[in-house]
Parts: sequence; C-alpha cells; structure tokens
Amino acid sequence: MAKINKNFENLVPSYLFAETAKKTNDYIKAHPDKKVIKLGIGDVTLPLAPIVVDAMKKGCDELGHKETFKGYPDYEGYAFVREAVAGYYKSFGVTVSPDEIMINDGAKSDAGNFTDIFSEENVVLVTDPVYPVYVDTNIMGGRKIIYADCTEENGFCAVPDKNVHADLIYLCSPNNPTGSCLNRDQLRAWVDYALENKAVIFFDAAYEAFITEDNIPRSIFEIEGARKCAVEMCSLSKTAGFTGTRCGYTVIPHELEVEGVNVYKRWYRRQSTKFNGVSYPVQCAAAAVFSQEGLKQIKENLSYYQENAKIIAGTMNELGIKFTGGVNSPYIWFKCPDNMGSWDFFDYMLDNIQVVGTPGEGFGENGKGWFRLTAFGDRNNTIEAMERFKKLIKG
Ligand code: MLT
Repeated sequence: MAKINKNFENLVPSYLFAETAKKTNDYIKAHPDKKVIKLGIGDVTLPLAPIVVDAMKKGCDELGHKETFKGYPDYEGYAFVREAVAGYYKSFGVTVSPDEIMINDGAKSDAGNFTDIFSEENVVLVTDPVYPVYVDTNIMGGRKIIYADCTEENGFCAVPDKNVHADLIYLCSPNNPTGSCLNRDQLRAWVDYALENKAVIFFDAAYEAFITEDNIPRSIFEIEGARKCAVEMCSLSKTAGFTGTRCGYTVIPHELEVEGVNVYKRWYRRQSTKFNGVSYPVQCAAAAVFSQEGLKQIKENLSYYQENAKIIAGTMNELGIKFTGGVNSPYIWFKCPDNMGSWDFFDYMLDNIQVVGTPGEGFGENGKGWFRLTAFGDRNNTIEAMERFKKLIKG
C-alpha cells in the first residue's frame, strides 16, 4: 500500500502567496470595475535589461545551429556564468572560486531543497517572522523547528541565544519580510554561534543588491569563519528582474564539511541526480547581468524600485506609522493601524482602497498585527496606492 508523507498534514493549508493570490483573484472577479493595485508578492514589474535580452536571444540563436548547439548543461552551471558570479563577488571584496558556485533556477529551489542532504534529526532554527519556504520545507521533511524572535524591540534582528542549540540555521538579510538587515557584528555573532555549535547557516542573500549602507554585509563570506559554516544562496529574481526568467546561484565553500563529508560534493551528488540545470539562453542572460554594462543597466531598475520604497516609507512617516525596511530593502514592514489584525487589514485595504499587500501573520506569530508592502510595483501605481492609503488612514 502506498503511504503518503503525513508531515504535509502539519502545514498550514495554503502557501502564503497562493492564499493572498486567491483572495485577490476572487475580489477581482466579483468587482471587475475596480482597479486593484498589487503590492503583495515581491514580483518585479520592469522589463529585463536590454543587454540581458540580447544575450538570451544570442543564446537561442546558437541553439539553432549545429556548430553552436548545446545539449544538457553542466550540472554546476556553465563555467562562464560561474566566473561572472565570482567576478561580481570580487567587486565587493569577497573571494569565492567559480568551482564553489552552483547555478540554479532561483534561490527558492535551493533554499527548499538543500536540507535533502541533511539528516531529519537536525534541529532547524529560523527567525520569526520568516520567509515561509524555510519553515514549510522543513515541516515536509519532518524536522524540529525552533524560532528566534524578531520583534519591534530588537529591530526585527534576532541575535543567537547561547543557551539554545540548533544545527541548521536560516538567515535572510536584507530580510524578507521585515526589510531589516543584520549588521556586521550581528552577523558575526551568528557565525561564531554556528562554529561553536558545529551548525550550518543557510544565508539567503536574495536582496543584497538593495543594500546602500556600508555597515551591512552583502555576503556572509565577508565575515571571518563563515567559509567553515555557511552556504549562501542568491538569485537574479530581484537583482535583475528574473522572477519569470529563473536563475540563481548557491555558493558552497570548499572548507565546509559536516561529519567529515564535503558539503559541496554531497550537494553536487544531489543536484546531478535531481536537477538537469538551467537552459543555455538563460545562463547567457545571467552572465550578461554581471558584465560592466549589465551591472549599469540593472542599477537603473534597482534605483527605480528604491525610489518606490522611498515613496512608501515617506507615506508611513507622514502618517506616523511605525515601520522597518525601505532603505536597504524593497520591503516596507509596518504596524497595522488601530491594532488591527494583519489578515483583517488585508481585507480592509482590498475592500476599501483595492490595494493588495501581504499580511505579516503569514510570516509567523511575530508578524501578527504587521503588514508588508513591496516596492516592486509600477511607479504610478505605487503613487496612486499611497494616495489611496493616506485617504483611508486619515479618514
Ligand atoms: C516574496 O514576495 O516574499 C517573494 O517574492 C516570494 C518568493 O521569492 O518566492
């Protein structure tokens, strides 16, 4: 008799963004005359940079000729992309070797799959609030999860508690959903904790391109000792608008070993069995992102989103609403007015001003009463959403 994985019964019924999408679509169906502005899921709205599109087209053309045709890509990704990623790290002072990098279809896949190579017995530590992928995938795998509280009091930046033992630790900075960032000392505290506990940190750097302040590390490998205890995941989704194109990378230092097993080699074994890589044209596009001209072009898009973030943050300031994020992050995380619950506030905004956000509660207990807006929207829509928001709150 086939047996189902009963761990799935411990999950909340829907993935957070599937739930908010359903509620939004139901509303749109019932109110076809209303203009709904979506500032919920962190999905980009600007087109790919021209140099990226050209590289992808060129990659397609090469596939159309016998002399340049490509079959299966290398499991770890083509060398030219890994070299481009290593060059990008070098530009902010971090040395990683191209053969410590594995190309994937975005950070979500590796964040969700990496625990495949770790025993079920590991205790997993996540922050609360947290990107739900870290939690849900470990519930699916039947692991024990413990939480490090991120609250208004600690600026939504937890530091490790030496009295608590964890084996696998997920950190995301700039943080999704709170937009808060770990500074160098805070990140060093996590690295020291991991070394002390022989734990492994999965560092999600998906939002590093939004960092503007010098004291915020862009990579965990800026911290001494991290090469012995951390894996870093990053994605081009937010950096270069690849949410639909799909490409990311994971860095696994040669030094990283668990119980005498080399983590890169074990992960390579897993990936070569379960993943056939990213298509050639997309890898060409990814390499173009890291060219001099590519970095210049994506910066224009990043600046556009950063300006949106300023508009949203400015609105919160004007209304005297407490918030974090918006400076080194495309997310603005604010306290729901009048002590409203975050799902109630989601409905209230949708019903009254047709603006969609993401309820903080969907990211964990500590998100109760908080709400997230994204700066990835269209500029005019962002301005309009904030005008509507001001009227709602002032009214
Ligand atoms: C988010 O809105 O939190 C992200 O876009 C979701 C994701 O990257 O999967």
